[in-house]
Amino acid sequence: MNYNKKTVYDFDPHGKKVLLRCDFNVPQNKATGEITSDKRIVAALPTIKYLLDNGAAVIACSHLGKPKGEWKESLSLKPVAARLSELLGMEVIMAADIIGEDAKAKAAALQPGQLLLLENLRFDKREEKNDPEFAKELASMAEVYVSDAFGTVHRAHASTAGVAAYLPAYAGMLVEKEISVMGKALSDPARPFVAILGGAKVSDKIAVINNLLEKADTVIVGGGMAYTFKLAQGHTIGKSLLEADRVEYAKEMMAKAEEKGVKLLLPVDHICAAEFSVDAEPVVTGEDIPEDMMGMDIGPRTVELYKAAVQGAGTVVWNGPMGVFEFANFNKGTFAVAEAVANCGGVTIIGGGDSASAVEKSGYAEKITHISTGGGASLEFLEGKELPGVACLLDK
Ligand code: 3PG
Repeated sequence: MNYNKKTVYDFDPHGKKVLLRCDFNVPQNKATGEITSDKRIVAALPTIKYLLDNGAAVIACSHLGKPKGEWKESLSLKPVAARLSELLGMEVIMAADIIGEDAKAKAAALQPGQLLLLENLRFDKREEKNDPEFAKELASMAEVYVSDAFGTVHRAHASTAGVAAYLPAYAGMLVEKEISVMGKALSDPARPFVAILGGAKVSDKIAVINNLLEKADTVIVGGGMAYTFKLAQGHTIGKSLLEADRVEYAKEMMAKAEEKGVKLLLPVDHICAAEFSVDAEPVVTGEDIPEDMMGMDIGPRTVELYKAAVQGAGTVVWNGPMGVFEFANFNKGTFAVAEAVANCGGVTIIGGGDSASAVEKSGYAEKITHISTGGGASLEFLEGKELPGVACLLDK
């Protein structure tokens, strides 16, 4: 996959109408609709400001949630327009539709330096179907397409991929940053290259483990998926998470690591509980987990092992927490690894989603080189998959 894409710096924005795909899929309070984290809006600001300051008229668009082709007022982008307007200190013109009369009239009247936001793209079912007519209609409002929606580049939708058939397509600053930092880590990493993989399920990370075993010097496994590996090693795992149909795969991955000379590190002790609950009593166990217990976090010896492996790394890529970090009794492993990653001295990259919120909660986010804004997108990137929202952009 070619990550060397033309960017906003490769065309002159003056006097151009630019269709800008953003990922404004922000978390909201279900009852009030209030935006609970504006990180993705903030991440889009540099490109928006650059385009506006350089004389473009910007037609921004995004999806929000999964309305599945139905008009749902609770998933309107109006709260995003309000937040965007506050952050930019200027008016954001809100369209009442996506490619309807109102959007088209407002797009036609839009002046250089003005910003228009279309309604939630997924209110129209043709968006997710990558319908060419819908893509063409979107494109008809602008002269240039810029994608800054890194969180959505793994989707082949009308606004993320289809539209590039009708307009010259460039990467925004966020997309450029995400693909260059992660692309370098995968293609030419400073060594030693340490990959840390966690999260609940082996099945979610199958392709990532496989791909990173080709590239990393050390692969560290934690979180719920580690127990399937421990069972494959012949240890008892009590009531811990198990994907019985992935035990063979875990064995294959351990064999692959050995064959490639990659260090594959698994927990050597655990913090367990009798039940999955926020106030469950934490119990430290050895490598084998008793029958009536479940693993909830990596244990203190494992923390030391993982810290030592991360220290002095040239590159660290981390995706997935080490335990149930949402529960205070079981966040120590994840937070200790966050501290070690933050202080390792190398280039450090955190995949989005849960890992990003774990690192933010740990207090070490400021010391990380790059925290991806993409959950599914960064995972697919680390899997080495072609991302339709990147592939469609013009090559340099
Ligand atoms: C995300 O939140 O990961 C992106 O916005 C993509 O959303 P989706 O999973 O609904 O396509």
